[in-house]
Amino acid sequence: MRSTLIASAFAALALAAPRPQDIEFDQVDAAPDAEIYTPPTNFTKRDILEVADALALKTKRDADCAPQPAGSGPAVNNPDTPGNFLAYQPFIDAANNAPTPQGYTQAFQNLQASSETTSYLGYKTLSTYGPILCQEYCDQLYGCEAFNIYFERDPSLAPAAGCPNPASFTNIKCVRWGVQVNSATATNTGETRSFQVVIAGSNGYNKLAAPNPQPGFTGPMELGGAINAPNDPVTNTNTYIGYKFFAFGTGSGMVQTYEAGVEACTAACTAQTAYNSRHPPAAPAKPNVCNQVVVYVLSDENQPQGIYCSMYTESWAQDYATNYGQYRGSDYWGVSQAYAYTNATYSAQYGNICAVGGCPDGSYQGGNCGGWGCEEAR
Ligand SMILES: *[C@@H]1O[C@H](CO)[C@@H](O)[C@H](O)[C@H]1NC(C)=O
Ligand SMILES: *[C@@H]1O[C@H](CO)[C@@H](O)[C@H](O)[C@H]1NC(C)=O
Repeated sequence: MRSTLIASAFAALALAAPRPQDIEFDQVDAAPDAEIYTPPTNFTKRDILEVADALALKTKRDADCAPQPAGSGPAVNNPDTPGNFLAYQPFIDAANNAPTPQGYTQAFQNLQASSETTSYLGYKTLSTYGPILCQEYCDQLYGCEAFNIYFERDPSLAPAAGCPNPASFTNIKCVRWGVQVNSATATNTGETRSFQVVIAGSNGYNKLAAPNPQPGFTGPMELGGAINAPNDPVTNTNTYIGYKFFAFGTGSGMVQTYEAGVEACTAACTAQTAYNSRHPPAAPAKPNVCNQVVVYVLSDENQPQGIYCSMYTESWAQDYATNYGQYRGSDYWGVSQAYAYTNATYSAQYGNICAVGGCPDGSYQGGNCGGWGCEEAR
């Protein structure tokens, strides 16, 4: 019966569609041109052009030459030239040996240009060339699809007529993008007038697709990390009811793929709800319902170990996804591909809880006591 229904639904669609589904360009042509962004350097192109113009026109200008914030990367000063910066072996090695963070694929490696494309979502400077730090920065922003990490040769003084070519600093930049990057978008080779900004060791990474929806749940909702939820802000009850972990592997109780792990997590959430209802607490308390399960890949030093599933009786907003990873001894345990699934019965009634600043639209202050209604649950 079901397949007949699906077949007839397809038939209806086919009839409704008058032409083959080619891309139509009318609306594309009518739309404004996409905006291409170049990540900013700490002094603007305009500054450089003004210096260049000032030099060219030999007009007298007040020298700016203000000291710039020291760069976080190693200085290349022997000699301090753009050519030497580009040839600097530690930059090349850093780029070539960089790990691809979990949840991403490498788009390009060790280029001497940074990406400039649409959908610029900001940058930060890093203290080390760490793609995993940059991955966390990307994951923290909903909609970040890609990032670019590179070394940039920047001036130690704001270039001006009095100091057209100051000593250089090295900045390590992490730029995030809302669209995927590839070597064709890595076109910003710096700036060649006056002080020469150049770029080395530029690596680009693209985020993998979100996992599949799961029956009986809404989501996946993209998270910047694992949820770190406080008590329910209204009832002051703990909503965290524990976790399951499925190691990657082929043995029993293991999962072989991320997608299988997501299915295992949502199934574990449902099983937990069923178990709790078979083992209810003393009245008037109600058995806990797993209403939100947060899934992510847990990696030890970027080596994926398994799927971690955290369970909650209430559904938390993205703002609470603040656990990006942590050290355990000298190993960094990273969180990647974090998504939340919410029990569909619950999400039909309640939004995500959020009581911090900048709450997403549709979030509410909590107080439903795990979907049972507060009065009964108390
Ligand atoms: C730019 O300047 C800001 C503020 O001084 C500083 O925090 C940041 O690290 C600088 N970035 C670069 C790329 O120099
Ligand atoms: C959703 O929660 C209800 C209880 O409110 C439970 O009976 C049901 O099994 C849950 N659904 C899933 C997919 O876990």
